[in-house]
Amino acid sequence: MKKTLALLLSVLMLVTLLAACGSNDTPPADTSGGDTQQTDDANTPEDTTGDTEEPEAPAAGGTIGVCIYQFTDAFMTTYRNALQEILEGKGYQVTTVDGANDQAKQNEQINNFITQGVDALIINPVMTSAADQIIATVQAAGIPTVLINREPTADQMAVYDKLVYVGCDARQSGTMQGELILDTPNKGDINGDGKISYIMVQGDPENVDAQYRTEFSVKALVDAGMEVEELNLTRGDWMRERGQEIVANDLAQFGEQIEVVFCNNDDMAIGALQSIVAANRKVNEDIYLVGVDALDAALNEVQAGNMTGTVLNDAVGQATAAVEQMELLLGGKTYAAGEQSVYVDYVKVTPDNVSDFMK
Ligand code: GAL
Repeated sequence: MKKTLALLLSVLMLVTLLAACGSNDTPPADTSGGDTQQTDDANTPEDTTGDTEEPEAPAAGGTIGVCIYQFTDAFMTTYRNALQEILEGKGYQVTTVDGANDQAKQNEQINNFITQGVDALIINPVMTSAADQIIATVQAAGIPTVLINREPTADQMAVYDKLVYVGCDARQSGTMQGELILDTPNKGDINGDGKISYIMVQGDPENVDAQYRTEFSVKALVDAGMEVEELNLTRGDWMRERGQEIVANDLAQFGEQIEVVFCNNDDMAIGALQSIVAANRKVNEDIYLVGVDALDAALNEVQAGNMTGTVLNDAVGQATAAVEQMELLLGGKTYAAGEQSVYVDYVKVTPDNVSDFMK
């Protein structure tokens, strides 16, 4: 009898011991999932930095904070939807926030994500000039970060090795816009006076995409030996209504002198088209119109002959690359200075190939 009791007791002790061991394994997982917000959160960033020496396995089902500069931006809407879909498809918990084109607001959102202890951040900065501050913040918290769409300089990124930029080389899109004009029967010189007279509708000039597209679209014409005349250059901040207003004003001022309308993006080009139609001008007959992005609306207009062409800014390709880089960071990858930009190619879209891009 005594023997059976003793045996029973030792079995009980063993079971208790095993249970205790098991529960020792679980807390890290519990902390990341059920995060008892205030108490544990303060420790999370430090815990993460403490682990930096040993690369961790990619956190399937981790939490990701996505900061977008402005939800009303048409292209970034396609981009953020693609990001959300890809991340959720891989089992991540994603929170996407709208910076409302306000850098102070976005800084707060980044700080909130850090306090919540997200596993990684994907940030589309409101202002490229805020890159230093954003990088310092994520670095201090040790959060792996992918910057998207607004490219900082290589020097700015070099200070933090768990940081990577995913985007496109905007020079390429500008060059392609110029080529779209050179590919027209009269190379953009509709009135045959020996020069291409254009207006430029620019995105937010603080953004390198706007700077390069403006510069390289015209450079492509000049490099091809064409003479150019800039009738006007106006910032439209990527917005359709601004494109419409600007082109309405320019058409009123310069009338038939305008042969080419360069828009730094499609949303402004769609606005421009409304004003071109209102002025009884006909695209591809007495005026040319090009954009960038390949928004669905622009693809329809290219197909209908109401836009000369556009350039695919591959939102899905960039979102896919951003998630890929994020997972590499989560797996412990660090980036050497000068190797922190990952580019996705632009593609020229004309009536000949537009159907390839339509869903
Ligand atoms: C560009 C895009 C624009 C606008 C901008 C925002 O790459 O072509 O339409 O979304 O990014 O930074």
